Amino acid sequence: MWTLTILGVIVVVAIAMTVHDLWQTKHAILKNFPVIGHFRYWLEAIGPELRQYIVTSNNEERPFSRDQRTWVYASSKRENNYFGFGTDDDLESSTNHLIIKHAAFPIHDPHPGERDFDQEFRIPCAKVMGAYRGRRHAFRPKSVVNVSGMSFGSLSGPAIEALNIGSKLAGCWHNTGEGGISPYHRRGGDLMLQIGTGYFGCRDSNGNFDLGKFKEVVAANPVRAVEIKLSQGAKPGVGGFLPSAKITEEISRIRGIPRGRDCASPSNHTAFGDVDQMLDFVEMLADATGVPVGIKAAVGEMHFWTDLAEQMARTHRGVDFITIDGGEGGTGAAPLVFADHVALPFKIGFGRVYREFVKFDVHHHVVFNGSGKLGFPETGLFAMALGCDTISVAREAMLSIGCIQAQRCHTGHCPAGVATQNWWLKRGLDPTLKSFRVANYVATLRKELLRLSRACGAVHPSLVTLDHFDVLDDRLQAIAATTLFDHRAEWGLPSAEDQATIRQIMTAPLSDRDSLVKVNGKRHRTLVESGA
Ligand SMILES: Cc1cc2nc3c(=O)[nH]c(=O)nc-3n(C[C@H](O)[C@H](O)[C@H](O)COP(=O)(O)O)c2cc1C
Ligand code: SF4
Repeated sequence: MWTLTILGVIVVVAIAMTVHDLWQTKHAILKNFPVIGHFRYWLEAIGPELRQYIVTSNNEERPFSRDQRTWVYASSKRENNYFGFGTDDDLESSTNHLIIKHAAFPIHDPHPGERDFDQEFRIPCAKVMGAYRGRRHAFRPKSVVNVSGMSFGSLSGPAIEALNIGSKLAGCWHNTGEGGISPYHRRGGDLMLQIGTGYFGCRDSNGNFDLGKFKEVVAANPVRAVEIKLSQGAKPGVGGFLPSAKITEEISRIRGIPRGRDCASPSNHTAFGDVDQMLDFVEMLADATGVPVGIKAAVGEMHFWTDLAEQMARTHRGVDFITIDGGEGGTGAAPLVFADHVALPFKIGFGRVYREFVKFDVHHHVVFNGSGKLGFPETGLFAMALGCDTISVAREAMLSIGCIQAQRCHTGHCPAGVATQNWWLKRGLDPTLKSFRVANYVATLRKELLRLSRACGAVHPSLVTLDHFDVLDDRLQAIAATTLFDHRAEWGLPSAEDQATIRQIMTAPLSDRDSLVKVNGKRHRTLVESGA
């Protein structure tokens, strides 16, 4: 009798939990895996205690450690993201550990309620994108933190929708990834349109680039800039890859590709074959649309970059921005050897490329954008000190919308509904709720970047130089980052004029900042158009 009663209670509780889990919209894992999904949260909750006796430390897991994931999860919910009891890093035996050298007299960081406290923590870019080449629609990016390219196909529709609405809320751009523009990209966020070797959305029946279609796509959507993808850090030298398991009817229509087989893009572009032709292509796209045009690439051999910087210095052509993706970057699917062994890590690759642009004195003409695990305050600030004007985040943004780092993106079975086209799994992801998480995460990252900059005595992260960084080794040495990277501290700064303008913007009363961002964008354009 007792056994029956207990069994009955268990069944009733299980049914109640199932109904609750299916009904709620907060947690995709519970919606997709009612009842058993709770085990994940229970294990997560007792993780710290468990880990004292078994398994990994807070800093061991990769690509993102438990501490990093916890920080993103808490930030995206605007929960307490502080850590107690001091660092759990072993500073004295950590290799390549970044140390930020604060100023003795930091700048005050306004608190809630104080004058000029900005709850969105806006940090506009110190440069105007497209200004140097005088593009008709040059603009000052409103946010130094933006959402990196991840296409519809590799991510689900609800995930793209969440990223797009989140980008609108956070005032940043949303890079489409190479899969073209889907209805999920049209939820109000500014777009950076990416075109890869597959030219999805702007290709003819033979898969070649189609200028007419490209112009139509740009005109019909809120495209602020165009990024030509040469390569990405996780798989440079091989084209984009979408496994057939993820190619639905809708994706096949949007991309213009057949179903039933994997979609593998070519490794190289058919629209150009060297730097000279690439610059002609860039100018053609910019002339046709008026928007800034840039490139994205991982860093391997250096000849390409020297050639590009040299041709930009010598001819009247140029890319408006360059995104450097680190070899540690993410992907939906890649061959292991390419993910592990091809292309330099961000810090080394970016440093080398930037030096070439300094050598030819064209570094101030380009907006430098970086990606590759830069969605954390210390790595983001370091990238900006090296010379980045903006940073883009991909997997960190995925974490903010519920990714649990299960690393099954390539299988189509993402349990969180983020990287899947399975209808049951993706329906668990509520795009409206998760869009707030993206916006909160982006705003929190900006908040921490601002805080760190002020701690270093600068009003904007682009004004923090490499002099503020040391790198620890495991022999009690702290080596100046300028020495390690063979980089003069002032190289990473914008031009004197851009420095003055961004200082003026960041120290203006909060109510005037938005208009200054716009006015300065226009003024700058006029200066360049008039040949200044
Ligand atoms: C699921 C997924 C899909 C991606 N798709 C693209 C893409 O279409 N085009 C691209 O240039 N990069 C793509 N990337 C790379 C990211 O844009 C980014 O460069 C890289 O992940 C490094 O940033 P992160 O460390 O913040 O993730 C993708 C990454 C992920 C995780
Ligand atoms: S499969 Fe795993 S790693 Fe990939 S998006 Fe989903 S939860 Fe994240």
